[in-house]
Amino acid sequence: MSDGSHGDTGSSDPVIEAVFDAVAATAPAIRDALPGRRVESDAENPSGETTLAGDMYADELLGEALTAIDGVGAYVSEERPEATDAGEGYSVAVDPLDGSSNLRSNNAMGTVVGVYEGSLPATGRELVAAGYTLLGPITTMVVADESGVREEVVTRAGDAEGDRGDESGGNGGSGRVKERDGSKERDGSGVVRSVVDDDLTLPEDPTVYGFGGRVPDWPDAFRGYAREVEDELKLRYGGSMVGDVNQVVTYGGVFAYPALVDAANGKLRLSFEANPIAYIIEAMGGAASDGTRPILDVEPDGLHDRVPLYVGNEGLIRRLEAALDGE
Ligand code: F6P
Ligand code: MN
Repeated sequence: MSDGSHGDTGSSDPVIEAVFDAVAATAPAIRDALPGRRVESDAENPSGETTLAGDMYADELLGEALTAIDGVGAYVSEERPEATDAGEGYSVAVDPLDGSSNLRSNNAMGTVVGVYEGSLPATGRELVAAGYTLLGPITTMVVADESGVREEVVTRAGDAEGDRGDESGGNGGSGRVKERDGSKERDGSGVVRSVVDDDLTLPEDPTVYGFGGRVPDWPDAFRGYAREVEDELKLRYGGSMVGDVNQVVTYGGVFAYPALVDAANGKLRLSFEANPIAYIIEAMGGAASDGTRPILDVEPDGLHDRVPLYVGNEGLIRRLEAALDGE
């Protein structure tokens, strides 16, 4: 866990690192663009939801940045019906602006990314890395790969936090990556990634929960489980998956967007949302389920399939599965 120092980690795979660099580099630009993009666009996304101008803008920025990386073979976005071909390499699946319905009320949102080995649709077992940015009062990024899970603070180069990564220190500015105390700016990206926790694990004593959807739409078995959890944990729900999952990442607990009476697959998308979050939470020592099996084992039929998502501390997820088993 973090001791306030800045660990010196990063993915050993340069393509994965370039993907995280690109996602970090777009975060300040997305944040800057949001004030003028709180209105609905004329478009619907492939899931039939009205998109905001902010969703479209984030999708364009990320699409450009990620398809430009050598070793990325496809850009697959929640906002696009089909994959965008980018040559040979990983498929990078993105929810460009998760929680964008929070834009009008000015609450948390962010970008979710999953790096899959082969082409999509595929199960989450094909993931080799995943992460999300969180545009809160500060911009953070949680990244998971074969070496573990890290939390980083993302700042513009030259801003107060970012000063740690300027060329006055670290490797002397001779290489492509300027580094100092675990903070680094890839030349020209304009942002600094500072590792604030180089070994993120789920707190053992869970304290928070957040469940999506309307209570009358919850199946009885889930309602029963929720009643128990309400007695044990504190409600922390803000209406964006990245923000609500980050509560669980920080304090331990359980987040769910459950199966609903009239929507057996809930709301969240398997490839863009559930799988990347499941990969991260599992890597932190937690569990992720669709109610009966690990999310990472769910076989998709299409790119935009939805799935119920229950993630958090292992004990809470096993109890959830037992509760739903009685349905
Ligand atoms: O991307 C879908 C999303 O915005 C998630 O971030 C969030 O968990 C969920 O929808 C909230 O949906 P609703 O407000 O419709 O329950
Ligand atoms: Mn989303």
